[in-house]
Amino acid sequence: MVKLKDTYPLYLNNKAVQPNTDLAVTDKYTGEVAFRTALATPDVIEEAIAGAARAAEPMARLASYEKQDVLNHCVSRFKERQEELAYALCIEAGKPIKDAEGEVSRLIDTFRIAAEEAVRNYGEVQPLDISARAKGYMGMWKRVPIGPCSFISPFNFPLNLAAHKIAPAIAVGCPFVMKPASMTPLGAIIMGEVLAECDILPEGAFSILPASRDGADLFTTDERLKLLSFTGSPGVGWALKAKAGKKPVVLELGGNAAVVVDKDADLDHAVERIIFGAFYQSGQSCIGVQRIIIHADIYDRFKDMLVAKTKTLKAGDPKDRETFIGPMISVKEAQRLKGWIDDAVAAGAKLLCGGGLEGAMLEATLLEGVGRECDASKEEAFGPLANLSKFSDWDEALEQVNDSKFGLQAGIFTSDIHKVLEAWDVLDVGGVVVNDVSSYRVDNMPYGGVKDSGLGREGIRFAMEDMSEIRNLVIRRV
Ligand code: SIN
Repeated sequence: MVKLKDTYPLYLNNKAVQPNTDLAVTDKYTGEVAFRTALATPDVIEEAIAGAARAAEPMARLASYEKQDVLNHCVSRFKERQEELAYALCIEAGKPIKDAEGEVSRLIDTFRIAAEEAVRNYGEVQPLDISARAKGYMGMWKRVPIGPCSFISPFNFPLNLAAHKIAPAIAVGCPFVMKPASMTPLGAIIMGEVLAECDILPEGAFSILPASRDGADLFTTDERLKLLSFTGSPGVGWALKAKAGKKPVVLELGGNAAVVVDKDADLDHAVERIIFGAFYQSGQSCIGVQRIIIHADIYDRFKDMLVAKTKTLKAGDPKDRETFIGPMISVKEAQRLKGWIDDAVAAGAKLLCGGGLEGAMLEATLLEGVGRECDASKEEAFGPLANLSKFSDWDEALEQVNDSKFGLQAGIFTSDIHKVLEAWDVLDVGGVVVNDVSSYRVDNMPYGGVKDSGLGREGIRFAMEDMSEIRNLVIRRV
């Protein structure tokens, strides 16, 4: 039986430090304090940034196999600590235990992919003799680490979305300072504990610092940090970009993702996947299904299937293996979404099922006829809510998907390859998933959004590009 400790340290310049126990982290199901962690003060954040700046050169000099060894060490240790990691997520995020176990297996994938990529950081030889003036010249380029990076990770995947920053940074050779979400810092702290076992990492290679929002300013503004990579809400992300100065910024933000169900789709399969995509971990995923766009010919039948399936979802204690719907991250967030549902109904939408709220437990909710100006439709729900609408031809379905300020991923259920190719051309999103939901992600995929959903891509190789610069070499034969 796994037990969490009462207190956890922060990691400053590779070492566990316990300056205080100021951050109380609650069990999101019971609402009680589950453990406490250290909270980084501005002085500690300054020490960490100075350490990362000193570590930039020794990190850049690590050999590829040394970076691979560090990442492989993490893979082995995460495998050994799987049960503990899943339990930590279940408590600090209220994530149903099966989803928590799924996230731990993705964490292991993410580090495994990075370990493979660490020895494939290739460059290119380029003939430069394209005209008489360049005769005898050749060029070649390689990628060098961008330098110390600043990472801010969210509450909904406390392990794997932190891993999508940490693992490529190590693969490239960038030191980093990370601020995990204050509501769910433990996943990243345990990753710090594992990284601290790697003596090969130079002092300052990493700091993992739970910090208050005010303290977090330094993560954004300090000029010694050469890249800011943020995953979280659109409002916060774009505001950070405005303060980031000259450093490049990667933003993995939210969306109100859509799926389209055509009349030729396998409806049993589509129902299973859409219910999963809309409601797993209580809809708290940036690519969770929020808009379900259904062909008019099958609308009524498919609606009945969705409602019937939604009513079977078991809500309750996330530690219970039968639970599908656990709590949202906070009572405040659950109340916010409940308010959006009530407003949509007051404006004329029909409640098909769900809508009930108790504490942080919001029922899986389906609506139809939601006005496009309602928050429930146009903003990111980030909770267990999905809205149904109808279409009668494919172009209209694609227009509905694009009728959003967001553009992260979309799912389409159809057997028609021409419609697939049309959607791939036309949909203004970072990724299109065919015969599965917008919420589908494998950790080596290029992942990220357009429009208000963000800037840049994660997915190890793609993050490694952002964390490195091309350095060219020109040689003249004499
Ligand atoms: C996210 O919520 O931003 C990421 C979703 C995922 O990795 O599955």
